[in-house]
Amino acid sequence: MTSSTGTFIVFEGGEGAGKSTQVALLRDALEAQGREVVLTREPGGTPTAEAIRALVLDVAHAGLDARAEALLFAAARAEHVSALIRPALERGATVICDRYIDSSVAYQGLGRELGADQIRELSAWATENLAADLTIVLDIDPVVGLARAGQVSDAPDRMESEALSFHQMVRAAFLNAAAANPATYAVIDATASPAEIHTQIVARIQA
Ligand code: TYD
Repeated sequence: MTSSTGTFIVFEGGEGAGKSTQVALLRDALEAQGREVVLTREPGGTPTAEAIRALVLDVAHAGLDARAEALLFAAARAEHVSALIRPALERGATVICDRYIDSSVAYQGLGRELGADQIRELSAWATENLAADLTIVLDIDPVVGLARAGQVSDAPDRMESEALSFHQMVRAAFLNAAAANPATYAVIDATASPAEIHTQIVARIQA
């Protein structure tokens, strides 16, 4: 099910793809057109979901069980959708979300090898089938992305600390999702300049 009145735009991509820069640029552009925009992120977006985020990304929990991890991301998402995203869409806002279900499919389903289908099913249940209207994949080679992310923060979180092969699997998962649903995905080369990437995103949204 997609939103009936508002528009739900999701950004996906690996570490260091520049999502936070692009979500902010898109918010500014849409607000300049007079739209109500809700910019949010996963895991997080509400006080409870942000508390789950702090827990699940904390390197202190290095050995966290993979299923427990998947359920924590799903719990944060359930709260986020019911308390913030769905109400915003119902009043006609544009919601821009930094990461959503495809991140769980990529990181927990493939990265942690829990199974893409099972994670998709768990996410559908957690969100009562709320799907994005458009997903923008900022695609980057993880070798480049992890180096970029390392320059931004010198304290990698639990996910950033994973092996390169893990991040390569995550990248492939986003590209596969996009290839399977070209009508609702846009894949953008994240090595272009921020201004060029933004132009491509706006063009895709207007189309
Ligand atoms: P964040 O600092 O937001 O990463 P980024 O800036 O790259 O978006 O941290 C979110 C991390 O959580 C990121 O490594 C991806 C991971 N994640 C999952 O493993 N599963 C999920 O369902 C979500 C939403 C995120």
